[in-house]
Amino acid sequence: MDSLLIKGGTPLRGEVTVSGAKNAVLPIMAATLLTPEKCVIRRVPDLSDVQFMGQILASLGAKVSVNGDTVTVQAGKIKPFGDYDLIRKMRASICILGPLLGRLRHSRVSLPGGCVIGTRPIDLHLKGMEALGAKLTVEGGYVDAKAKRLIGTDIFLGGRAGPTVLGTANVMMAAVLADGVTTIESAACEPEVVDLAFFLSSMGARISGAGSPTITITGVKELHGVEHEVIPDRIEAATFAIAAAATGGEVTIHGARPDHMSAVLDKLRDAGVRVERKGLTLSVRRNGTLRPVDVTTQPYAGFPTDVQAQMMVLMAMTPGLSIITERIFESRFMHVSELARLGAEVSIEGPSAIVKGGRPLSGAPVMASDLRASAALVIAGLSARGSTLVNRIYHLDRGYEKIDQKLRGLGARIQRVEQP
Ligand code: EPZ
Repeated sequence: MDSLLIKGGTPLRGEVTVSGAKNAVLPIMAATLLTPEKCVIRRVPDLSDVQFMGQILASLGAKVSVNGDTVTVQAGKIKPFGDYDLIRKMRASICILGPLLGRLRHSRVSLPGGCVIGTRPIDLHLKGMEALGAKLTVEGGYVDAKAKRLIGTDIFLGGRAGPTVLGTANVMMAAVLADGVTTIESAACEPEVVDLAFFLSSMGARISGAGSPTITITGVKELHGVEHEVIPDRIEAATFAIAAAATGGEVTIHGARPDHMSAVLDKLRDAGVRVERKGLTLSVRRNGTLRPVDVTTQPYAGFPTDVQAQMMVLMAMTPGLSIITERIFESRFMHVSELARLGAEVSIEGPSAIVKGGRPLSGAPVMASDLRASAALVIAGLSARGSTLVNRIYHLDRGYEKIDQKLRGLGARIQRVEQP
């Protein structure tokens, strides 16, 4: 099992290019199940989650080939049920439920298991499938959805924490081949949902309102193959921006979509970070002493929960008090105790973390618990005095393409080490 050994204290300097968005490519790969024709997806990041999705599609009968950052899928003859051993490895695999039901009128998918960041139920996904006319049975850890016909209808998809991203994606993918019109209310507005709607529309689907809380889908008889380039990863771009600010460096991020990152860039500016946007390029530079800012995670276009941990590191290094409130997932503070090992002073009060910032961090061995927590530990290690060993980085490889190489390109002293 690999770990990352980081020698901290070097300001990051130089240029980096972001990869395609993990959270756009996963539902788009699932959407290829909606047509027997060939689909070509470009700017696909080389991540373990993408490999898992490829294996899942292949286990359903699709032909999947990878050539550099291009993935080609042809879901000619497919079957309605996915393999538990594959699906349990990645929650996002739940988004094969909608396309299989849409195309085959039958889908049997294992229920995603537990997750350290929260209970993460799929009740809203199932509510959407039932509303379209599917009969559901949940048994033996599987949900079985069957429908003679899928009929368009109005579906309210708001839940405890607001809209659901993959739930919106799943219902959209089931509704594109349904009879009649479906209206999704309280739909997620994330750029990844918009990219999926764009992909489906290029396949011949009729969708309007993606990016707003109301999405309207007029069902069609069939969909065709398509070529598509996924959007850049706004969470990866935000991670590099925060790493630049935390290390006191100056970094230019290429291939980003700054318009997808407004809430994060706004908070960085409030904290005293210099941020310049030019087209698809972002320049980030720490300008003197940082200022503490309060952050509350929200559905898009609010501050993303996937950047909460990284922002906590920046606030741990900033003199003064800041409050970070997590409103999307109920237990997404796993990184707090590991940051404390590096000297950060953070206490938890219900959904909020009170960060007493300013104490210099010092290197130590730490353990990654989930994808974004591991990114935060890497930023902390880069900013700390001495050496930090981040263990269990398989979490990191799920969502960051070649992050150690990219960071070395910015002058970081970081290397992958094999652990016994
Ligand atoms: C997507 O997960 C992302 N994953 C997550 O990114 C991201 O954190 C999340 O959206 C929120 O932005 C992918 O796109 C693959 P949700 P998703 O359904 O769709 C509750 C990362 O780090 N809920 O929008 O699974 C749920 O428990 C990952 O890249 C229900 O109650 O998240 C949560 O509290 C982590 N019932 C809230 O809604 C449901 O049926 C939002 O979850 C569905 C969700």
